[in-house]
Amino acid sequence: MDPQEKILFLTQKIEQHNIDYYVYDNPKISDSEYDKLLRELESIEKEYPQFSLETSPTKRIGAQPTSKFKTIEHSIPMLSLANAMNHQELIDFDLQIKKLLNTNNSIEYSMEPKLDGLAVEVVYKDGQFIYGSTRGDGVKGEDVSLNLKTIKAIPLKLLDSDYDTSGIIEFRGEVFINHADFKKLNQKRENEEKQIFANPRNCAAGSLRQLNPKITANRPLRINFYSIGLQENLNINTQKELIDCMPKLGLPVNNLIKIGKGIDDIIKYYDKLESIRNNLDYDIDGVVIKVNSFDEQKQLGERSRSPRWAIAGKLKSQQETTKIIDIIASVGRTGAITPVAKLDPVNVGGVIVSNATLHNQDEINRKDIRINDTVIIQRAGDVIPEVVKVIKDKRDKNNHSYQLPNLCPICNSPTKRAEGDAVLRCINKKECPAQIKGRMKHFVSKNCMDIDGVGDKLINMLIDNKLINRYSDIFKLSYSDLEGLERMADKSIRNILDSINTSKNTEFSRFLNGLGIRNVGTHACKLLEKEFDRDITKLSSATKESLSKIHEIGEIMAESIESYFNNQNHIDDINECINQGLTFKENKISKQFNGLSFVITGSFKNLSRSQIKKILEELGGRVSGSVSKNTSYLVLGENPGSKFKKASELGIQIIDENGLNSLLKGDLPN
Ligand code: IVH
Repeated sequence: MDPQEKILFLTQKIEQHNIDYYVYDNPKISDSEYDKLLRELESIEKEYPQFSLETSPTKRIGAQPTSKFKTIEHSIPMLSLANAMNHQELIDFDLQIKKLLNTNNSIEYSMEPKLDGLAVEVVYKDGQFIYGSTRGDGVKGEDVSLNLKTIKAIPLKLLDSDYDTSGIIEFRGEVFINHADFKKLNQKRENEEKQIFANPRNCAAGSLRQLNPKITANRPLRINFYSIGLQENLNINTQKELIDCMPKLGLPVNNLIKIGKGIDDIIKYYDKLESIRNNLDYDIDGVVIKVNSFDEQKQLGERSRSPRWAIAGKLKSQQETTKIIDIIASVGRTGAITPVAKLDPVNVGGVIVSNATLHNQDEINRKDIRINDTVIIQRAGDVIPEVVKVIKDKRDKNNHSYQLPNLCPICNSPTKRAEGDAVLRCINKKECPAQIKGRMKHFVSKNCMDIDGVGDKLINMLIDNKLINRYSDIFKLSYSDLEGLERMADKSIRNILDSINTSKNTEFSRFLNGLGIRNVGTHACKLLEKEFDRDITKLSSATKESLSKIHEIGEIMAESIESYFNNQNHIDDINECINQGLTFKENKISKQFNGLSFVITGSFKNLSRSQIKKILEELGGRVSGSVSKNTSYLVLGENPGSKFKKASELGIQIIDENGLNSLLKGDLPN
């Protein structure tokens, strides 16, 4: 292939992988294979810039920061939705529609989850992304084109199809972050000692409105499209046609959207979404019911700001009113002091909430939160509950404003807030019991040394009794040490000593993760395991220059690693762990499924296809998108596609969700 052809080939291939991942939740290659393709394209484009396409995936990032967003006027206003708070108001909506359309027949509706993110419009001309904007006030929004371009789920060029994409088409959708990505991002920020985000919605909104697109590019933003503005030649006439068409053009659509008829279907859908809401991996705050036919939509028309043809069925609030009994300052493993509100316990959407995070002093000041205040709290997904606002009318005049303490509440050392940092910290890194407890809890946790039977309670007792202070002390614990602790029976002591002993033979990456080196997360630890071939001496003497040459290890991480190992206390502790018998095993698990090829089809109760894919790949398997005679196993979910038929014809071994579970436990199916 000549360079021009190769550039075209790689560009198309990478965009197709984006679509497999974001539109079909069915990735066909691993993240590292994807990165490899991207780097290959980058290097050819560098050599032959004249052949690089405007829609090249390498151009998603790299744009220069702007000082201010331009304003863009929407060619058709982006309306908002009227609300229905209960069944009756949905019934009234349907009756009103029938009355206005002068019919007794059941109306066809599109029934959709109301995603809790922020609305954007993306404009294509002759199939190419030209610009995009936020909803703004509905008439004018902000030009966030450069940021939208960094979202890999938004195609820079619409896919070829039977649809006529010539001229202008405006697609509208919701930008959001899912819970798994949000958790990961916050964990990373915590490691980097950065302020964590309050909830996925704020994080998505803040990320999209960054003046520097490089920051946006590092945020795991997703998008689901659900409506259309101007369409010059596309010729879509119903919401159903739109929902069917968009994925064919490469635009992701939510998979819970359904077409229904009449009020019974609406009520069923509303109740169903209410019941599954807490199991979804993203936040929804309602359902959206839209008249399916665009002709009927036109007939029904609009009120001033919302259409008559659609309504948002609000789900039960995840907000409640309660009282702040106290505010305590909790100290984490990095010394960060987080104010936590102790609440009069209250039931929020089926979960009893008695704590809410207040984030930091600035947040407390901004919301003017005081002990004894009556407040509205909110729970979103599995995110820590937070205070939305204070009900000032109910405030007692004796309630005083709250200040985080000048001394660490645990060790009495001074606290300090570095310039530009939102977080107040205890500076006594070495001896503060709260920091030691935090570090130790992290060290023994599931993703690190994974020491069974050693949980938070035991760590607290061990530290309070001065039995452990640094990591190696765990390996030195004896029967008599544990015997003296409260409620320790012979059997549990033996079990604990046994699991500590077993944990000594561990994977290098687990130990490294357990050390809690600033900025270095689980993924980086795995990279370092590979790169340094389980040699901790080699790693500890690596310079930041050589470390930052490793793919995916940036300068900040390299610096953290170097500085961690420059501390003699750290080296002494690691050496002591080794003296106590710590050894690193070959990462066998990753080899368990080497050479095996899997195909996944259908949908699963507990995991998404991409989660299953990730797990299988972590175990060394290869996951492919189509069944062939080389497929080792077909992983079969509900409502499988043609892959099931093909696998049966070829006599490929098939495993269901139960088989998958035993597979994940380590049993190879037979
Ligand atoms: S349709 C007039 N569909 O809800 C049609 N909106 O209150 C309005 N939203 O600004 C847009 N999920 O941010 C539509 N499936 C969905 C939606 C949805 C969430 C948001 C969107 C919009 C707001 C309207």
